[in-house]
Amino acid sequence: MQLNGKVALVTGASSGLGQHFAMLLAAQGATVFAAARRETALEALADRIGLAGGLCLPLVMDVTDPFSVTEAFHCLQQKAPAPLSIVVNNAGVAQTRAALDVPAEEWLGVLSPNLTGSFLVAQASARAMQSGGGTLVNIASILGERVAKGLAAYAASKAGLIQLTKALALEWAPLGIRVNALAPGYIETDLNRDFFASDAGQRLIARIPQRRLGQVADLDGPLMLLCSDQSRYMTGAVIAVDGGHLVSGL
Ligand SMILES: NC(=O)c1ccc[n+]([C@@H]2O[C@H](COP(=O)([O-])OP(=O)(O)OC[C@H]3O[C@@H](n4cnc5c(N)ncnc54)[C@H](OP(=O)(O)O)[C@@H]3O)[C@@H](O)[C@H]2O)c1
Repeated sequence: MQLNGKVALVTGASSGLGQHFAMLLAAQGATVFAAARRETALEALADRIGLAGGLCLPLVMDVTDPFSVTEAFHCLQQKAPAPLSIVVNNAGVAQTRAALDVPAEEWLGVLSPNLTGSFLVAQASARAMQSGGGTLVNIASILGERVAKGLAAYAASKAGLIQLTKALALEWAPLGIRVNALAPGYIETDLNRDFFASDAGQRLIARIPQRRLGQVADLDGPLMLLCSDQSRYMTGAVIAVDGGHLVSGL
């Protein structure tokens, strides 16, 4: 197991991609702190990982609240069997609405977790990792590099996260902290399954060069690459995992 003895934090672990990432890192031997706001879902995940022979500890954290982030890191450091060295900055939300109709609070409701929250978690992580180094993986999106209608706030937040990844990689390389981003394309989860089964969803899938939706397991290899020493000379990189969606013809 590649991550034996390592301590990892996955934010947004109460559902979707984050839940899968937590299970993946635990299956590779890491002690995983699973963070989000919904404690019951985190406890269920910890039980599931425990039954599979892994170790997962729930960590309640609202990434938009600096106090909550500080408290959660304090708790993590008290409970962790070794220094934190892997962080998957995955918590995020999406809202779909025409830009002309987006109220200010909705704009902030997307930018706040996706960009500010990611920064707060990255900063707290780097403070925790600055003596021993580590790897930080920001979960961006192909919408950080291209655009789609009705997703201005989301696309802006993910573009910001990609640029933040590069800025932090530059500042923290001397500390032995690598910062990279994974940019998934459309990945099937419980929340979007119905949409992708609809006519509109099927039309979207038809525009993906590989002609299929991504599955969470399609992210395993790239995530493990970025979380392990296999990527020791990589920092500031953005890896798209999208069935070729970013290179689809114009
Ligand atoms: N699914 C895709 O196709 C896709 C594609 C590209 C990128 N992504 C990115 O992948 C990440 C996960 O997406 P997903 O599809 O798995 O969505 P999801 O199932 O809705 O999961 C989002 C997670 O973020 C957490 N979260 C939201 N706001 C939070 C806050 N203020 N503080 C702490 N945690 C918060 C949620 O937990 P709580 O509600 O319990 O706090 C939940 O665990 C997101 O960053 C998303 O942009 C997804």
